[in-house]
Amino acid sequence: MRRAIFPGSFDPLTNGHLDIIKRSAPLFDEMIVAVLNNADKHPMFTVNERCEMIREVLPAVETDGCSMRVESFSGLTADFAKRSGANAIVRGIRAVSDYEYELRMALMNRRLEPGIETVFLMAGEEYSYVSSTLMKQVFELGGRVEGLIPELVETRMRQKLGK
Ligand SMILES: Nc1ncnc2c1ncn2[C@@H]1O[C@H](COP(=O)(O)OP(=O)(O)O)[C@@H](O)[C@H]1O
Ligand SMILES: [Mg+2]
Repeated sequence: MRRAIFPGSFDPLTNGHLDIIKRSAPLFDEMIVAVLNNADKHPMFTVNERCEMIREVLPAVETDGCSMRVESFSGLTADFAKRSGANAIVRGIRAVSDYEYELRMALMNRRLEPGIETVFLMAGEEYSYVSSTLMKQVFELGGRVEGLIPELVETRMRQKLGK
């Protein structure tokens, strides 16, 4: 049984995240999209709202027989991976700027849990500049983000901002 976690903030889910899910699904039997409950950030969506959005969007995503679930967690990603019985942590790399941070996290996680490998997947070119933060900034200023985030997420952002 090859089980992976795909951890992140997902505030909110973007098509870049979905691209990584689609690419990594064929590599695993089970994947847990793991939404980090990070108390010191100022999120647009609560952890529950983020999990619910992902749960609503996922059934329409082609995951090649990989069974998907969504869970929230707090604390160390390595601990959550271990608790979940995962053998891999999936992360996406968009640009060289992601690499340094991701390398440090992967090495630390490997030290904490030597049996769990971090697997990096390259972002699709069309989403390589997409981040949750950029999507929120552009949307809040009235810019167009369709095609870069799921429609449901756009609707929820509109509701959230009362637009
Ligand atoms: N556009 C994208 N293309 C590919 N991977 C992405 C994209 N946006 C985010 N990711 C990846 O998804 C994972 C979760 O990202 P994010 O929600 O920003 O959480 P974190 O707070 O852990 O960075 C990270 O591995 C990140 O590199
Ligand atoms: Mg990020």
